[in-house]
Amino acid sequence: MARSVHPVCPDPHSYADSTQPDVKHLDWHALVDFDARRLLCSARLTLSAPAEGALDLDSRDLHISSVRTQDGAPVTFMLHPADAVLGQRLALTLPAGTTGVEITYATSPDASALQWLTARQTAGGKHPFLFSQCQAIHARSVVPLQDTPRVRITFTAALTVPAKLRALMAATFVDRTVQGDAAVERYEMVNPIPPYLFALAVGELVSRDLGERSRVWAEPPEIESAAWEFAQVDHMLDVAESLFGPYPWGRFDFLVMPPSFPYGGMENPCLTFLTPTLLAGDRSLVHVLAHELAHSWTGNLVTNANAEHFWLNEGFTIFAERRIQEKLEGVEMHALHEALGRRALDAAILSFAQQPGLTRLRTELAGVDPDEAFSVVPYEKGYLFLKTLERHVGRAAFDGFLKRYIDTFRFQSILTDDFLHLLEEVLPGAYAAVDGATWVDGEGVPENAPVAASSRLDALSALGSGVPSVETAAGWSSAEWQLYLDHLNDHSQDAPCAALDAAFHLSDSKSAEILVGWLELCIHAGYAPPLARLDAVLGRIGRMKYLKPLYAALIGRPELRDRARDLFERHGAGYHPIARQVVAGLLGKP
Ligand code: BES
Ligand code: ZN
Repeated sequence: MARSVHPVCPDPHSYADSTQPDVKHLDWHALVDFDARRLLCSARLTLSAPAEGALDLDSRDLHISSVRTQDGAPVTFMLHPADAVLGQRLALTLPAGTTGVEITYATSPDASALQWLTARQTAGGKHPFLFSQCQAIHARSVVPLQDTPRVRITFTAALTVPAKLRALMAATFVDRTVQGDAAVERYEMVNPIPPYLFALAVGELVSRDLGERSRVWAEPPEIESAAWEFAQVDHMLDVAESLFGPYPWGRFDFLVMPPSFPYGGMENPCLTFLTPTLLAGDRSLVHVLAHELAHSWTGNLVTNANAEHFWLNEGFTIFAERRIQEKLEGVEMHALHEALGRRALDAAILSFAQQPGLTRLRTELAGVDPDEAFSVVPYEKGYLFLKTLERHVGRAAFDGFLKRYIDTFRFQSILTDDFLHLLEEVLPGAYAAVDGATWVDGEGVPENAPVAASSRLDALSALGSGVPSVETAAGWSSAEWQLYLDHLNDHSQDAPCAALDAAFHLSDSKSAEILVGWLELCIHAGYAPPLARLDAVLGRIGRMKYLKPLYAALIGRPELRDRARDLFERHGAGYHPIARQVVAGLLGKP
């Protein structure tokens, strides 16, 4: 198959040029200015070798004031015109003998990685909040660097913030010093990370220790429920280590974000970010924490060299997540989650009818914004491919391969072919035997995909669109409710909404998964009473997994389109820039 890799810029989403030196290390200072919504920064970049001539960095909406060498000599620089996907090439011309450069600059109030929240948008309501989300290619709106996972960096950072607030980074804490009404918090990251894992959060934050190596951070009103929901994290770490080897990042802390956080979780090293929608009050969504923990191996240790191989990152992580989940919650829960994954995969593949290339594992993304290509395909199809290999070679052999994979590629950023070569070496013939080429470069889901099986799934199929008895439903896990509602969403014309509403009060569900599945169903089925909840839900939750189906369902009903537009006009400003862009796209707005 023809590959689209450019020999000099091997990542279609970066200006980084592989014939130039790599940046190895970053020393970063940032003053957080909440009034101006800017970071005032200096970034000292250390190169892999003394260099002369061109060095191309990625940047987006940065205001560069000066660039100097390690000796203070000025460096000529030029910001090229912005490309809609890549941002601006920051072209430096280095004098001979340059070992590093120091760039002073400010971020833009519209930096795509940053969300600046007013006090009203936080759970505490008293102080503003700032957080970053750099994956996939937003680090360049915070720091000018080679924003490609191919180039890993270590870093130190010092953040100056109002003394009332805490500044957290996804790194190892060094110290905090207070002078007057400002505090400086210092961090360091000694393991080389891809830039998409660079992360910070500033706000009124408190923490609770959950074990020797793990603590949860949250705004004060959320800390109790967060500590309860994730109390088993220490055990989860032990289970993960038993499967994938020693945890390589020191601490595994995590932060429950304000509600506008656009993802379920983000595996920022040493400090996973989680949506507060996981606080369901019944520990039913802890698999998201398991997922982010699993990335500590499959992702943060071994990552894809560019977004065309994103499946290596997320497919392996879903596989690892479900291995952890199976040990923690048993095979039945594992099967229910597999089934949920398969439903989501089939829906994604249908939605890509016009872009079938995006249903391959190995994709071609030159000119395509990775946020727009994002879907569950690399997750769930990647998972099924690994599962197919596991079924073929047996669990013990595949576990051995997984450990070998992690060991071989630790702290590297790899391509699908790197994985395939190791697979052939360790499990010769397996790829051909499962028709691997169809999996990797073919569209849709291959015929030999394993299908989840369990008696609980059988019971759900038998029920179909019927209304469960109160006793039956009392025994349901959250996953069963989700599967049931998912099924009804596919058959919404005969959905028994009124009966469900009367018996189960789903509009009051504390689980966002159930509440959103239910509201989506009510929109599809034209059952109006619960829709009064939409204003509160869309006005509070910014997780794209929920915004997308709710807005899409509203737009799908001509009589509700104006309501969708009105909801977006009133609440869109509170969404994260990435989420706002996605919803605007659904509504056909620029
Ligand atoms: N790294 C992803 C989130 C992400 C992907 C952010 C691509 C930006 C670009 C994270 O690990 C993830 O997959 N989160 C899922 C969790 C789920 C699969 C359990 C989510 O947010 O829903
Ligand atoms: Zn993930």
